[in-house]
Amino acid sequence: MIEETFALGGDLPVRRLGYGTAQLTGPGYWGPRGDVRDAVAVLRRAVERGVTLIDTADNYGPSIAEELVAEALHPYPEGLVIATKGGVVRTSDSAWHIDGRPESLREMCEASLRRLRLETIDLYQLHRLDPAVPMAEQLGALEELRAEGKIRYVGLDTVSAEQLSAALELTEIVSVQNRYNLLDRESEPLLDLCEERGIAFLPWFPLGNGELTKHPECARIAAAHGATPGQVALAWLLHRSPVLCPTPGTGRLVHLEENLDAAGVRLTATELSLLASLR
Ligand SMILES: NC(=O)c1ccc[n+]([C@@H]2O[C@H](COP(=O)([O-])OP(=O)(O)OC[C@H]3O[C@@H](n4cnc5c(N)ncnc54)[C@H](OP(=O)(O)O)[C@@H]3O)[C@@H](O)[C@H]2O)c1
Repeated sequence: MIEETFALGGDLPVRRLGYGTAQLTGPGYWGPRGDVRDAVAVLRRAVERGVTLIDTADNYGPSIAEELVAEALHPYPEGLVIATKGGVVRTSDSAWHIDGRPESLREMCEASLRRLRLETIDLYQLHRLDPAVPMAEQLGALEELRAEGKIRYVGLDTVSAEQLSAALELTEIVSVQNRYNLLDRESEPLLDLCEERGIAFLPWFPLGNGELTKHPECARIAAAHGATPGQVALAWLLHRSPVLCPTPGTGRLVHLEENLDAAGVRLTATELSLLASLR
């Protein structure tokens, strides 16, 4: 059986197949993508279709994706979890700076709260661990924000299983977000640990940044289901582990509908082992 939902932190249920907002911004997640009305329509349709997990970040745009989320969806419907991130600053279309200093994390979180028009961010993810700042200081800053009610749950992004284990010694972590898809399974040790500890794993690039929507083996399997290759790639993630919560990104309504319909694709044991052998 494929679980439809996952409870973040054990008590915050989300539909496992969510929506990621990165594609609402321009190339390299920099600047606007196109007509604001198209982005608003995609976000509203996602929620209409039952999405309860929306992944965003302060630096998509920067600021643009969070602002679009608020414009399209505020006041938010009950049960909608907006997962955002802080800890990485963009200064140009090609520059990313990791900044995990406690005072910076506080400023970033408070700016996200304002843009999203929220009093509490349900899931705040540290976009990258800052190698220049002790992990305990970065997590300590998030723990303080949690104690103040500004964050409900903390997640990590792009970490190893060893780093997650170390973080769990310091504070409660309810999710991780690493690159993971049918063709990129480097993070399997992390996935194993997430399963063991009941931690959500939001795989980024669930469609391989679009590559899997054209994959020949996925296309062959898709044909037997009247589905598309991208739907097979997303269905594989949903079958692979009950802790995986994919948030495929798109700026197009037609792709959104297609991606969400992947929840209805049931793969056979033979198809799953065929897909498992791809890398
Ligand atoms: N934590 C991190 O460091 C990190 C990094 C990257 C992404 N993320 C998060 O993960 C989410 C997913 O990643 P992603 O959006 O970068 O990559 P993705 O979901 O793997 O793929 C997105 C790409 O596939 C295309 N696409 C989507 N649905 C399609 C469909 N049905 N048919 C054909 N093409 C389709 C999109 O173009 P169209 O817009 O034209 O449909 C876009 O080019 C992001 O939105 C973001 O929230 C996090």
